[in-house]
Amino acid sequence: MTPAQSMLRKATGLNLSKSIVDRAIKNRMERTDAANQDQYLEQMTPAELTALVELVVVPESWFYRDQQAFHAAAEFVRARLAADGNRLVRILTIPCAGGEEPYTMAMVLSDAGIASGSYIIDAFDISPGCVERAKSGIYGRNAFRSQDLGFRDRHFSHIGDDDYRVSEAIRKQVRIKQGNLLEFDLSARTGYYDVIFCRNLLIYFDKPTTKAAIAKLEALLANDGQLFAGYAEVPSFCQHGFSPLQYPQAFGVVKEAAATPRKPAVVAAPLRPKATAPRVALPPAPAAPPTTHVTRPAEPRASAPAAAPSPAVNLLAEARRLADLGDVKASEGKCRDHLAQHPESAEAYFILGLLNELTNKLKLAEDYWKRCIYLQPDHYEALCHLALLAEANNDAAGAAALKARAARIYKRQQA
Ligand SMILES: C[S@@+](CC[C@H](N)C(=O)[O-])C[C@H]1O[C@@H](n2cnc3c(N)ncnc32)[C@H](O)[C@@H]1O
Repeated sequence: MTPAQSMLRKATGLNLSKSIVDRAIKNRMERTDAANQDQYLEQMTPAELTALVELVVVPESWFYRDQQAFHAAAEFVRARLAADGNRLVRILTIPCAGGEEPYTMAMVLSDAGIASGSYIIDAFDISPGCVERAKSGIYGRNAFRSQDLGFRDRHFSHIGDDDYRVSEAIRKQVRIKQGNLLEFDLSARTGYYDVIFCRNLLIYFDKPTTKAAIAKLEALLANDGQLFAGYAEVPSFCQHGFSPLQYPQAFGVVKEAAATPRKPAVVAAPLRPKATAPRVALPPAPAAPPTTHVTRPAEPRASAPAAAPSPAVNLLAEARRLADLGDVKASEGKCRDHLAQHPESAEAYFILGLLNELTNKLKLAEDYWKRCIYLQPDHYEALCHLALLAEANNDAAGAAALKARAARIYKRQQA
């Protein structure tokens, strides 16, 4: 690792490639009088480091990103308030990027009829640029990627061209500050937050940094609180004292001590827009999403042009899409058509498992997922589902073994 890479790793925790760091430094050198990289690093000041960090962070976010997390959190907040109407529910989103995540949480709570005085959202990001954008509350087209844009009509005003400003009522629910998760001062905030969103940050960390970050989050979260991670980050939490929350596609976790075996959630009804809510319980996917995964918008990244999908893949993609829409029969038909051509398709059996879970035929679901991992022993999603099922059946040892196996696969896929 170059000195510049390790300096940035120390400042942010981010595991950055040499080319990204070199490019950022070259950019900053053009604005300073440094003749070369060594000189630039020697002249480093805190302000310059902040400017450099700004160039290496990935501030990618949008409203209602992986929206089930917000619905799960809203249900949790509602339950908290039902148990004690006088309490203030505290929510943390870190990193908040340009504010899309905390404002979404405020919109979902507002739409669910939760009184504004009963919760507060703290939002932090390491990047001053992100913090400034979040405070401005002004967003362009890129922030609105969900299919249902009803929330934009309810909570934004159009301020010309493609720009929208979030309403004052939503803004006042969110306190935005600059902050580094790894340097978070815990003295006054141990067990402070009922809900934490920490999504799409740990994927940029190496193993020791991930562990340190999870330790911070563990300290910040109330013992009976809930934390929402990015879809590829759940296994890391499961390796460090957390258990998955059984709410489809929310990617939530709870502290292990607080976890109680529950029945696997087949469909947990969201508080808000049902039409847009995926209805099949899909677990967190591995770092490299399966080619048939159709529900997740991809982060922009440089890649080779995609080859035209084969008809077999199309059948499975269609089966997934129909499953997401809750059209069990049609989806099952596509799986069977696919299996007629490819009798050893692990993915088809995986989807059949999901469909049977959806219709509460858990034994059949289990059989399909077992067939899936027989054909493809490293099928991460099937292993996660089998682990949840084992947990629901009070088979703690079986669940732990399956989780450990999924975590190993996850790790391998990351490497
Ligand atoms: C991909 S965005 C995720 C935003 C949002 N949570 C989401 O999922 O849409 C990653 C953000 O992490 C921030 N970040 C990077 N390192 C950080 C750190 N150590 N502490 C806090 N924020 C950090 C970046 O500035 C960037 O805005």
